[in-house]
Amino acid sequence: MKGILITFEGLDGCGKSTQVHRLAERLQQLGYQPIIVREPGATPLSERIRHLLLDASADITPLAEMLLFNAARAQLVDTVLRPALETGSIVLCDRFADSTTAYQGYGRGLPIELVLACNQIATRGLTPTLTFFLDVPVELAFQRHRSSDRMERAGRDFFERVRNGYWEIARRQPERIICIDATRPPEEVHTTIWEHVRQYLPSEASASEGFY
Ligand SMILES: Nc1ncnc2c1ncn2[C@@H]1O[C@H](COP(=O)(O)OP(=O)(O)O)[C@@H](O)[C@H]1O
Ligand SMILES: [Mg+2]
Repeated sequence: MKGILITFEGLDGCGKSTQVHRLAERLQQLGYQPIIVREPGATPLSERIRHLLLDASADITPLAEMLLFNAARAQLVDTVLRPALETGSIVLCDRFADSTTAYQGYGRGLPIELVLACNQIATRGLTPTLTFFLDVPVELAFQRHRSSDRMERAGRDFFERVRNGYWEIARRQPERIICIDATRPPEEVHTTIWEHVRQYLPSEASASEGFY
């Protein structure tokens, strides 16, 4: 795969969207044309699944929830991510498969190996080049992000399990996943992200020549 897939992970409120947009802005200034997507979403089907998943009244079992996230992901991978990466694009993804491992595996308690197997089926093995886990305490995440949708109402213990789950996922794949202290100011977090991303970029000359 010629392109670069960069994913952002962490609790809601940790600063994923802020950092995706800041990184996109910096890449654009250098002449790159990054593609930005969010999960679940970014295709018509995936956005409909997102709506189902976030519906506060929906009664969804953990297994059904995990499969819905992966159905949305399968559509995204095959219709957006793979085609973009095959043409050499830089893709920034606000959440990806690690979210399902953290939330439905560690958070909801589905067997981790089952979740990893389903993620593998949905992505058909597509793994991010680089993943940033933006870590903040649950309390701070709640302060930054107030929402009452279905996922949010799962309670504090749930989010503690998700946070610890992310640490476990990162511990297993240290070469791919960069853990960042996201309690720091946004521009400092961005600087750390940029130090990693720039190592994966082709020369700025090739960006201006339109390869990316
Ligand atoms: N490093 C940071 N320090 C303080 N506030 C932040 C930081 N990053 C983001 N925020 C603020 O916190 C809120 C949630 O950030 P956002 O990027 O939407 O997080 P996420 O996409 O992970 O839910 C926003 O109001 C944003 O402006
Ligand atoms: Mg966001």
